[in-house]
Amino acid sequence: MEKIITVLPGDGIGPEVVASAVKVLQVIGKRFNHTFHLNYAAIGGAAIDQYNNPLPEETIAMCEASDAILLGAVGGPKWDNNPPALRPEKGLLKIRKHFDLFANLRPVKAFPSLLASSPLKREVAENVDLMIVRELTGGLYFGEPRKKTDAGAIDTCVYSREEIERIVENAFELARLRRGKLCSVDKANVLDTSRLWREIVEEKKKQYPDVETEHNLVDSVAMKLITNPGHYDVIVTENLFGDILSDEASVITGSLGVLPSASIRGDNFGLYEPVHGSAPEIAGQGVANPAATILSVAMMLQYSFGLKEEAAEIERAVAAVFEDGYYTADLAQEHTRTLTTEEWTEKVLNEIDASFVSD
Ligand code: NAD
Ligand code: IPM
Ligand code: MN
Repeated sequence: MEKIITVLPGDGIGPEVVASAVKVLQVIGKRFNHTFHLNYAAIGGAAIDQYNNPLPEETIAMCEASDAILLGAVGGPKWDNNPPALRPEKGLLKIRKHFDLFANLRPVKAFPSLLASSPLKREVAENVDLMIVRELTGGLYFGEPRKKTDAGAIDTCVYSREEIERIVENAFELARLRRGKLCSVDKANVLDTSRLWREIVEEKKKQYPDVETEHNLVDSVAMKLITNPGHYDVIVTENLFGDILSDEASVITGSLGVLPSASIRGDNFGLYEPVHGSAPEIAGQGVANPAATILSVAMMLQYSFGLKEEAAEIERAVAAVFEDGYYTADLAQEHTRTLTTEEWTEKVLNEIDASFVSD
């Protein structure tokens, strides 16, 4: 198979974790006989510095000519006081909107060998395997009007029926392919957008009698995700709630550094990025956990290219390195071996190579 991938390293630890993920992609290409053409472009703070634009036309054009996008992270203190249009985060929001990547899939799977790194009790965190389906191109992130003056500020939460219908359908389809359970998360006791959301889930569920559906308010889900995460299979929710709940859910796995994501729109095209941000306080030290970005490459292989075996090989290799007791600093415990980003990536590459030698 031959594919074109646009690589957007971004800021902070973005370039470090992307370099690791690219190495893994290349070894998979070599072992499974695929050609991945990689084109690099600027986004976020790096693009502001170079083009005075967090999402330059050149970057959009390159992404349009590719089959998928791999992104690191954007943002950092250097640009935090920029005007809204010249913030790194604006580049990320624009690229999601430009490509209509409305469905953000954020799987949360507890690795058995990382349970000691989670602050949750082993019996609570073990066997957790859930998927947060986050609406990504609507809600408070994009609603108009939005404005800030010294006297006050406004953000607007808007959802059209169509926007809700398509993400809810997506979540029902996913639930059907998984354990058949869907939890729709809203704030229908307060918000009109949530009331419409709930009505649409009720309508849609008639087409999915095989899926066990429940509604839950976001505040109580924030609690239950920690007390009983094993309860959940697929969670579907609006943009901001999904953002917050996914960082929260990372606690179950032991680190934000292991959560991947796929942003898709229903065809083969997609943008793949870790759930975490640019972690400026550890950037440049070579200590970031690259697992989330490596696992995002696995999601790219699966969702954009249909390469299931290749995706599974990456997931197997990552789990095997954890099982061997190798961790990056974010996961480190007493008596574990702490590796740098590059050393840990090397272990994953060796694991993949070794599986071919023994075949
Ligand atoms: P963050 O996700 O960057 O970091 C949160 C915490 O997790 C920090 O303690 C950090 O050190 C740690 N962490 C995150 N990823 C890690 C990894 N791979 N390995 C080890 N530790 C890791 O969130 P933040 O600090 O709130 O935000 C920093 C910047 O990142 C902000 O500018 C924010 O806007 C941006 N951000 C970008 C994205 C994105 O590009 N998708 C996502 C979230 C935040
Ligand atoms: C994420 C990030 C982004 C978001 C920011 C950086 C715009 O937190 O991808 O989770 O809020 O969507
Ligand atoms: Mn976030």
